[in-house]
Amino acid sequence: MIGPGRIARSFARDLKLTDSGRIVAVGSRSQERADAFADEFDVPHRHDSYEALVADSEVDVVYVATPHPAHYPNASLALEQGKAVLVEKAFTMNAHEARDLVSRARSKRLFLMEAMWTRFLPHIAEIRRLVADGALGEIQTVIADHGRWFPKDPGLRTLAPELGGGALLDLGVYPVSFASMVLGAPDRIVSLVDPAFTGVDGQTSMMFGYPNGAHALLSCSCLALSPIRAAIVGTEARIEVAADFFAPTSFDLIARDGTRRHFEPPHEGRGLRHQADEVARCLQEGLVESPSMPLDETISIMETMDAVLAHAR
Ligand SMILES: NC(=O)c1ccc[n+]([C@@H]2O[C@H](COP(=O)([O-])OP(=O)(O)OC[C@H]3O[C@@H](n4cnc5c(N)ncnc54)[C@H](OP(=O)(O)O)[C@@H]3O)[C@@H](O)[C@H]2O)c1
Repeated sequence: MIGPGRIARSFARDLKLTDSGRIVAVGSRSQERADAFADEFDVPHRHDSYEALVADSEVDVVYVATPHPAHYPNASLALEQGKAVLVEKAFTMNAHEARDLVSRARSKRLFLMEAMWTRFLPHIAEIRRLVADGALGEIQTVIADHGRWFPKDPGLRTLAPELGGGALLDLGVYPVSFASMVLGAPDRIVSLVDPAFTGVDGQTSMMFGYPNGAHALLSCSCLALSPIRAAIVGTEARIEVAADFFAPTSFDLIARDGTRRHFEPPHEGRGLRHQADEVARCLQEGLVESPSMPLDETISIMETMDAVLAHAR
């Protein structure tokens, strides 16, 4: 694990729920923080630099859990040492960095994956199955939002420009990834962006159009707590995903005549163990990317987010 902060601790707790992997080493910019994490989670190797962590011969796969601007250099470091890499969302700061990481991994035949943990959750697997089976008919619209309130602290990762702050990369990546999972890459993008007091994007609203005429209506905000729900609307039925739609939750399948079926798959922990299971499965099967979160789609998601910010009104 590179970057023993908040999400690294959540992931470490959930890793205890599965035997698909264990934490053999942690790397921090400080020995003290590496030791504190290692003591908390019983990690045998503790390194005072990310360089030492990626050089550790006991490590099969490096999990990059640093703020977004560090993802690209940290993941590059791990790939250079021949390690498989799992990179937190947002994968990188922009599509250019994403393309470069992917091409490095592909040229070395190394596993690389965006830690978009939502993709591996039981309710999402069920939703994908229903969509693939045609239960919704032709999909016309995807709707999703992710707004959170943060105190006016310029040092918060989500608000600080130097830490890659902004609603879109931190929170909006979930609605954007959800729409991508259902509808693919948009061919038309309209966006409204208004800044937070630090200058990062504070509230971002998006309308995407797709070649088949489908639309996605998405929003994110780091200024206010929104419903954090999602819907997939088809000609035969719609799916309404309860809050928080990207975390372990339930959903309803509602037919055009109003008939409603409720789905509540069992969950344990915070929902992060499933991405660990996927990484372990891919490594065991010799896959260099996950079929559920393919690298070309990760690049496409970054391209979409680049366009949202570049062409905002
Ligand atoms: N999957 C999820 O549900 C989820 C949830 C929250 C966050 N995330 C993602 O995970 C990443 C980390 O988020 P977080 O909330 O865990 O971050 P965090 O606690 O603020 O930082 C994580 C660690 O990164 C290291 N780091 C490296 N460069 C840093 C810098 N310039 N400033 C501050 N820390 C730096 C620090 O460890 P050392 O200095 O000890 O090395 C720090 O403890 C983000 O990309 C975020 O989007 C994912």
